[in-house]
Amino acid sequence: MQSVADFRTYTLISDLAEVQLLADRVDVHWTDGRISPFHHQWLRDNCPCGECVYSVTREQVLEIVDVEDDLSALDARIKQGLLSVQWHGGHHSQYDPGWLRAHAYDDESRAERRAAKPKSQLWDSRFQVPVFDYAAVMEDPKALLQWLLALRDCGLTQIHRVPTEPGSLALIAKRISFIRESNFGVLFNVQSKADADSNAYTAFNLPLHSDLPTRELQPGLQFLHCLVNDANGGESIFVDGFAIAHALRTEDPQAFRALCEIPVEFRNKDRHSDYRRLAPIIALDALGEVAEIRMANFLRGPFEAPVEQMPLLYRAYRRFIAMTREERFRVVQRLNPGELWCFDNRRTLHARNAFDPASGARHFQGCYIDRDELLSRILVLQR
Ligand code: OGA
Ligand code: ZN
Ligand code: ZN
Repeated sequence: MQSVADFRTYTLISDLAEVQLLADRVDVHWTDGRISPFHHQWLRDNCPCGECVYSVTREQVLEIVDVEDDLSALDARIKQGLLSVQWHGGHHSQYDPGWLRAHAYDDESRAERRAAKPKSQLWDSRFQVPVFDYAAVMEDPKALLQWLLALRDCGLTQIHRVPTEPGSLALIAKRISFIRESNFGVLFNVQSKADADSNAYTAFNLPLHSDLPTRELQPGLQFLHCLVNDANGGESIFVDGFAIAHALRTEDPQAFRALCEIPVEFRNKDRHSDYRRLAPIIALDALGEVAEIRMANFLRGPFEAPVEQMPLLYRAYRRFIAMTREERFRVVQRLNPGELWCFDNRRTLHARNAFDPASGARHFQGCYIDRDELLSRILVLQR
């Protein structure tokens, strides 16, 4: 009988000491003194047996609505280290204590889990960008994991000693997962072109921005790989969009709220496509934490907001951009051939200074991967 519906194993933090069967729940007493109540419904819903969970996919086949809603346990006890529950009506369930503890929903367990969640480490101009070695992340799963954790928590990393053959960044991107294609290709070439379909493909300066804010979901990760950089200028600039949003939240809460609430349209069009997305510049998650920044002045449409909100929207927008220009937030660095930036496109805003194409060639290649792929790869590497 399965006791865990999962592809990983759970470390045993504490053993089961005693279980108490009550009318509506089972109270599990752990050897470290914690008491975790589990309602009968919850236990029945999470029965990992082969009838309730398909052992190949580890996905549930039981739907709790198919069990009577006044279900109750006949017996609950510790058997060979597992929690064993006998249900009225004949079904029998067994639960691995490591799994139970990892999913316990008593206040202490939930608080502990919330505290253990990875937190974004905010940075400013003093940030030492973490650098990783191409060969190491290609060959060593431990180095790969270190890189991906830095990417998740800091949102800005560099890789050095990458081959300068065009396409090399695809090899490293695929260490995480598949690449997210866009209308600019699987890989896009950042070069000054006569028939540019974006300001990115000119020699102009590009102000701090996220890529593809014109899409419902902005790409989670962006790679920028330097193949040739002989032109004068063209330095890369980064700011932590989360750090700026946090600073704005305390320095000017009204402007912060305006950027969270008033949607702005971003647009990108050429002869074959016309992408548009109406969304606020700062997105919050369900807990009210800053989850995403959407910003590219060169892709922004005219503001459309209620008349009485327009002055506030301009004030907030100007303030945010003014902050992205403040030295205290900016990391400025010129990339050399064989070096690559990889960053969280929904957090870290990037820019480049103008360059002089008459002074030499400049060729970067880029690609995108979604955040889901990064988080999934991290969990698989951690199994
Ligand atoms: C881009 C971009 C940066 C650079 O192509 O979106 O931001 O350094 N390029 O050319
Ligand atoms: Zn079952
Ligand atoms: Zn860009």
